[in-house]
Amino acid sequence: MTHVPVLLKEVIDYLSPQANENFIDATVGEGGHALTILKLIEPDGKLIGIDLSKEVIGRIAKIKDKNEKLKNRLILVNDSYANLEKIVRKNDFKSIHGILFDLGMCSWHLEASGRGFSYLRDEPLDMRFSPKNDLTAAEIINFWDIEKIEEILKEFGEEKYAHRISLAIKEARKKERIVGTQQLVDILKRTLPKNYDKKRIHFATRTFQSLRIAVNDELQIIEDGIKQAIQILEIGGRIAVISFHSLEDRIVKHIFREKAKVGELKILTKRPISPCPEEIKNNVRSRSAKLRVAERI
Ligand SMILES: C[S@@+](CC[C@H](N)C(=O)[O-])C[C@H]1O[C@@H](n2cnc3c(N)ncnc32)[C@H](O)[C@@H]1O
Repeated sequence: MTHVPVLLKEVIDYLSPQANENFIDATVGEGGHALTILKLIEPDGKLIGIDLSKEVIGRIAKIKDKNEKLKNRLILVNDSYANLEKIVRKNDFKSIHGILFDLGMCSWHLEASGRGFSYLRDEPLDMRFSPKNDLTAAEIINFWDIEKIEEILKEFGEEKYAHRISLAIKEARKKERIVGTQQLVDILKRTLPKNYDKKRIHFATRTFQSLRIAVNDELQIIEDGIKQAIQILEIGGRIAVISFHSLEDRIVKHIFREKAKVGELKILTKRPISPCPEEIKNNVRSRSAKLRVAERI
């Protein structure tokens, strides 16, 4: 299944790509946003597309190979946006008019990676965006101190049953290694109330989210990446960030405010932009998306 780009029209309206401008997609994924931007910056505008997952970059590299118009204009980099400044320097990329971050996973991670991102599948508890990372979700669940697990559930999942869940994990891992997603889902099912969060979200959502954030050190990396992006934008260039939960959105909001205070940014979205009901109907994944945009001044 292909990934449906979230808030595409809004991102394009705000970034306003024009002929021959240069852009960076810090989380290129399956290229939903990047390919649209590349069309608008023809004939000579270039785009660096970064993604931490080698397999995801491989998919968009195939699209590039088949399209003559992309050959010299789409530069793909399999790396973390935490290395943004280095990547830009290495590619001698200048006059950057816009940078996009679309945080989180793409459909490939949930549906085809086999890495345990989805609580709906039975897969190894891995959750790494890149296998170069040594830490897996199974390592956390089986070997981290229970207090630390409770802390990440609270902090990264805003899970109000963090204490209860961590105790259940403590008991379960005494009996056997917890290596698969469904083992974890079973523990949660036994532990959490039947009408968890009034059934607004699946009972495993927050636990899976907190493990993914911890495994990939996502919040720290988001902060590093966004701060570097602001530094490398040309004056008048824009940064757009799509986040999918309140912790990410809070980080973006704070960085933008901090940089606006010292006169480096002008915030263009006083409140974050959410998808319209039509988009949510057509793509449930967009439900929690929030877009914030700012301009380098
Ligand atoms: C929501 S998807 C992007 C989808 C893309 N905008 C599209 O419409 O096709 C997020 C992507 O970010 C990648 N990613 C996660 N952490 C990253 C990091 N630290 N550096 C670069 N890419 C990362 C994931 O592998 C994933 O492919």
